[in-house]
Amino acid sequence: MQPLKRRLALFGGTLLLAFAGASWAQPAAPARPAIRAPDVRYEPTPQNVVIDMLKLAKVGTQDLVYDLGCGDARIVITAVREFHARGVCIDIDPRRIREGRANAELAGVTQRIRFAEQDLFETELSDATVVTLFLSPQVNLKVRAKLLRELKPGTRVVSYVHDMGDWQPRESIDVNGAHGPRKVYLWVIPNKNSPLP
Ligand SMILES: C[S@@+](CC[C@H](N)C(=O)[O-])C[C@H]1O[C@@H](n2cnc3c(N)ncnc32)[C@H](O)[C@@H]1O
Repeated sequence: MQPLKRRLALFGGTLLLAFAGASWAQPAAPARPAIRAPDVRYEPTPQNVVIDMLKLAKVGTQDLVYDLGCGDARIVITAVREFHARGVCIDIDPRRIREGRANAELAGVTQRIRFAEQDLFETELSDATVVTLFLSPQVNLKVRAKLLRELKPGTRVVSYVHDMGDWQPRESIDVNGAHGPRKVYLWVIPNKNSPLP
């Protein structure tokens, strides 16, 4: 075969293989959709505020920290790495859970964190000793009854930016948020049947 003819034959063969390959390939698996639309869009808590929140809640080695709507898992990962707690990371968005798992892997803390792709309103919370929130005013008010019903007395709840309406916090601090000064609030679950502060 002439050199040019041989090159054309080779090129044709390569094209044929490429098309054949394309027809054999499995179609890419579609990304799994979220259970339903999140109640709040994703925005991470700045890392300096994560530390402020965990310090305000006095997180320590005995704690099990739940982040309800955990995003990239930074709060729970920090609770494990810096405060030697264990953690549970709940998010309704599968992308966030994938990202959180990858971050925990990188940080070498997967064994101390449980990940659950689920609706925070469907999550059993009774073994938490600390709950962290960065949600919205409406979602905080909606989750409040669940926190009071399921959490043990003495469990600490911390929220970045949003309060809990007329449930007065035990303490609040000023922090440097991503968009300027913000608050972090701390509540402590009261004894059953005690009035809210
Ligand atoms: C503002 S981001 C906070 C992320 C993280 N907690 C942080 O502070 O960096 C809110 C997160 O809540 C999640 N989310 C919204 N509604 C939810 C629900 N009903 N159940 C579980 N997660 C939810 C969103 O997917 C998002 O990742």
